[in-house]
Amino acid sequence: MSKDSPGTAVPGHGARSGWSREQASRIERTDDTTAPIVYPPATDQAPDVHVWDTWLLRERDGTVATVDGYRVTFSLTAPADLLPGKRHDVATIRYFYSADGRTWQPGGVVFEEPLGQRTWAGSALYDDGDIYLFYTAAGERGADELTYTQRIVAASGGTPRTDGEFAIEGPWTHHELLRPDGDRYERQDQSRGMTYTFRDPWFFEDPATGETHLLFEANTPVPAASDACGGDPDLQSFNGSVGLAHSPTGDPLSWELCDPLLDSVCVNQELERPHVVPRDGRYYLFVSSHDHTFAPGLDGYDALYGFVADSLRGDYVPLNDSGLVVTNPANAPFQAYSWMVFPHREEVLVQSFFNYYDFEADSMDRVADLPESEQLRRFGGTLAPTLRLRVEGTHTEILGTLDHWQIPLPDEVLPPTDREYFAGESGDG
Ligand code: FRU
Repeated sequence: MSKDSPGTAVPGHGARSGWSREQASRIERTDDTTAPIVYPPATDQAPDVHVWDTWLLRERDGTVATVDGYRVTFSLTAPADLLPGKRHDVATIRYFYSADGRTWQPGGVVFEEPLGQRTWAGSALYDDGDIYLFYTAAGERGADELTYTQRIVAASGGTPRTDGEFAIEGPWTHHELLRPDGDRYERQDQSRGMTYTFRDPWFFEDPATGETHLLFEANTPVPAASDACGGDPDLQSFNGSVGLAHSPTGDPLSWELCDPLLDSVCVNQELERPHVVPRDGRYYLFVSSHDHTFAPGLDGYDALYGFVADSLRGDYVPLNDSGLVVTNPANAPFQAYSWMVFPHREEVLVQSFFNYYDFEADSMDRVADLPESEQLRRFGGTLAPTLRLRVEGTHTEILGTLDHWQIPLPDEVLPPTDREYFAGESGDG
């Protein structure tokens, strides 16, 4: 990769790569990065619950697992009649399974007694017949009020049952894995911004080295006396990072914090759900971020952003010059969020959830101005159509879509993409 990535804006804080204000100032919708408009699905696969952040059960090497023919997803969920803005306060992980990658059955709540007051996003590993569920324990169990501490946790002890109906069974044991160290990773009491983040663990085995890693969303501590961002305190509180931990033995329950892979000091406060997809010997690092978490003077979108490097801890450069990979159309700017990229055969697919539709506003805060019935009506709360993406070098291009909730089975050959189809048609005509 070229060496034009600027490195961290906070000397001594160790992120090798940084997303610079100059790069982020180039964020702009293009045909290659704007997803088509999404309409509500004909049938909601999970009518009783709202579904948002979702991840697939995967093998150690990142392959999407198939357990006796079933694909398995895990989702953050909340009751479907709850106001969507309140869902983070009660988030509960449920699982779904599918024999055809299109129709999904609810498996129910994964575990009754997780750590924390509520469970936020994570990842799931299928290893030698065992299921490990990595998640974020948000808040402290037993506290009277909602609290916002975040700890990275794994639950072990899950096994799939495949005689007759599919089910995941415990008993689960919950292990606290990581808390922010206050040095490489900001603690809550150091936060000078909206809030700190320390969440969304993502298991990743490096194909080049076989080493075992956990990526997560975090923030870089920026002391008040720092000269980062020209010393401007209004910019310094935008300090998102992609955290990294390493398991020297490969044990999914034992981790050591490492320096962050990348940070976005002076640029953006939240680099959510970081994950890496290896391809053509390169490392594609993806994060989701919001319009409202960009620092003053920058104008981003609710979008999937991406970076590429030649090695896991290499020098990441933004994809498509700015980092923008997938965003929503301008007339539905909040229609999808929390994108997750995964390989399928020769292709790259992108899953996300269907967020607010029929809602053209400049800020998500406007949701709160709507009557409650409208907030509920305009919230998708289900999975969005899966996108198909071309990824080549430092460039990406949205090629077409599959259905809502479609996670193809391993051997499934996908039809021509929308772009190939239309190109063929115009060629014929
Ligand atoms: C992204 C996110 C995650 C978090 C979850 C909480 O949509 O903010 O970072 O784990 O939502 O609901």
